[in-house]
Amino acid sequence: MVEAVESGKLHSIGISNYYTKEQVEEVLSFAEITPAVIQNENHIYYQNAELRDYVKQYGIVMESWYPFGGRGHTQESFENDVILDLAKAHGKTAAQIILRWHLQDGYIAIPGSSNPDHIAENYDIFDFELSEDEMNRIRGIDEQRRYEHW
Ligand SMILES: NC(=O)c1ccc[n+]([C@@H]2O[C@H](COP(=O)([O-])OP(=O)(O)OC[C@H]3O[C@@H](n4cnc5c(N)ncnc54)[C@H](OP(=O)(O)O)[C@@H]3O)[C@@H](O)[C@H]2O)c1
Repeated sequence: MVEAVESGKLHSIGISNYYTKEQVEEVLSFAEITPAVIQNENHIYYQNAELRDYVKQYGIVMESWYPFGGRGHTQESFENDVILDLAKAHGKTAAQIILRWHLQDGYIAIPGSSNPDHIAENYDIFDFELSEDEMNRIRGIDEQRRYEHW
């Protein structure tokens, strides 16, 4: 990957599935180029804010895979009481509230969808803002629950 960056084929390097400070530090101990992004499982039930805050010092940004909990689990996120409450308050869908939380809290989120209506809905999150109190309510949903363990 370093060779690909140096030859201009790649702009940046991203890594995936590094969940602890120790794992990140191990990579950084030999990395010639600091990764720009770490793509990890992150959703309302597994936020791992500690790692997101830790890697900021290196200019690394967290990207959430399974931003809605992933296929087979999305309803657990979409039907969460706090999310539904905020969706009602803002006149937005549960998916839009969750994406807005990811962005406001510093996560890149790229949800998977093959439905054009969902894709349009997922882009339509830039005309409202969650308050700090609302963000704290979503942060409070975190229960360190991952769906995958690779
Ligand atoms: N690095 C890794 O180890 C790793 C592991 C897993 C996944 N990933 C990546 O992470 C990305 C996302 O994963 P994912 O697609 O499984 O999880 P996800 O984004 O959490 O969930 C996708 C599911 O949400 C539904 N959805 C999307 N927008 C919606 C909306 N507005 N309303 C209702 N439902 C909506 C989709 O159905 P519709 O198609 O019907 O919209 C799909 O079933 C993918 O690019 C995947 O490759 C990476």
